[in-house]
Amino acid sequence: MSPHELEERLLALEREAAEAIQGEEEVSGLEALRVKYLGRKGLLTQLLRSLKEVPQQERPRLGQLANSVKASLEKRLEEAKERALLRERERALRSETVDVTLPGAPLPRGRFHPISQVMDEIVEIFTSMGFQVAEGPEVEWDYYNFEALNIPKDHPARDMHDTFYFSSEMLLRTHTSPVQVRVMQRQRPPIQVISPGVVYRRDSDISHTPMFHQVEGLLVDEGVSFSHLKGTLGFFVKEFFGRGTEMRFRPSFFPFTEPSAEVDIGCVICGGRGCSVCGGTGWLEILGCGMVHPEVFRAVGYEFGRLTGFAFGMGVERIAMLRYGINDIRLFFQNDLRFLEQF
Ligand code: FA5
Ligand code: MG
Repeated sequence: MSPHELEERLLALEREAAEAIQGEEEVSGLEALRVKYLGRKGLLTQLLRSLKEVPQQERPRLGQLANSVKASLEKRLEEAKERALLRERERALRSETVDVTLPGAPLPRGRFHPISQVMDEIVEIFTSMGFQVAEGPEVEWDYYNFEALNIPKDHPARDMHDTFYFSSEMLLRTHTSPVQVRVMQRQRPPIQVISPGVVYRRDSDISHTPMFHQVEGLLVDEGVSFSHLKGTLGFFVKEFFGRGTEMRFRPSFFPFTEPSAEVDIGCVICGGRGCSVCGGTGWLEILGCGMVHPEVFRAVGYEFGRLTGFAFGMGVERIAMLRYGINDIRLFFQNDLRFLEQF
């Protein structure tokens, strides 16, 4: 090929490609043209193979011409592509409309477990009376769970708690009462604390689970009497279950309180007339309580007499069952959304 012919063909290729680019509207078509003319196996590359046929002294000039053809075509392609993209967007904006009347995609929303809700509510009622929250470990020493609460190793009251033991000295706490001992050990009266938490017992039926929640209360000061206990729990029951709720104190026994009582409320299901939930009595037990036993004060080094106190402990699941009319405690722990979403 002569230098002249190569020059002519380069210029012809530029004209032809420029025309093709001009007439192409689609981004994909422009990409095809780039491959056709400028690609690794494209027409320009093929043409440049003839460069070695032209005399040595002509090569730089023709090489430069080829480069400028390449640069100019690249620029045209780039500009054409930008225009094509713009057109595509305008077309899309015109043809695609947003239907603002379509329903949105709902985002599933979590919520607190009913037991957490009830626990928070209980804690709030007591903090409104000046109680402070105190917590203790779930893996507990036998000493705090039993010994210091006036339940020595051979005490028959140990049978009331079916305990998970790690060793003869370490266990999963069976109630929140050990927190009483821990609080009294580390601070001096006046004490007014509430301890919500998880406890464990080897128990399982429609009203017992191996893991459940309790809220403990403890108040120690000079001149605390049983009437303070009655007033405090009376306020709680009316706040939580409603003003008109009946309540009674029934004598009971706990090794760490003396005297001891259990509190019943008028059956929320039958209103006190008697039904299967309350066993025909018209009453439902909600908590245990009493005046702190002198032996417990002795264990923490308090002088009994000048100081007195009361304590109480309630089962949170039991209270939630009464509040919502649920007859099987296990529903709380099966994680069935159909159940949980009702709260
Ligand atoms: C106690 O645990 C005492 N510590 C309460 C107490 C505290 C008395 C301070 C005096 C002073 P009791 O073992 O009765 O008492 O348990 C209290 C409540 O826990 C029961 O009324 C019941 O509602 C709940 N409870 C007991 N075992 C289970 C269980 N396996 N599953 C669910 N709830 C339970
Ligand atoms: Mg009981």
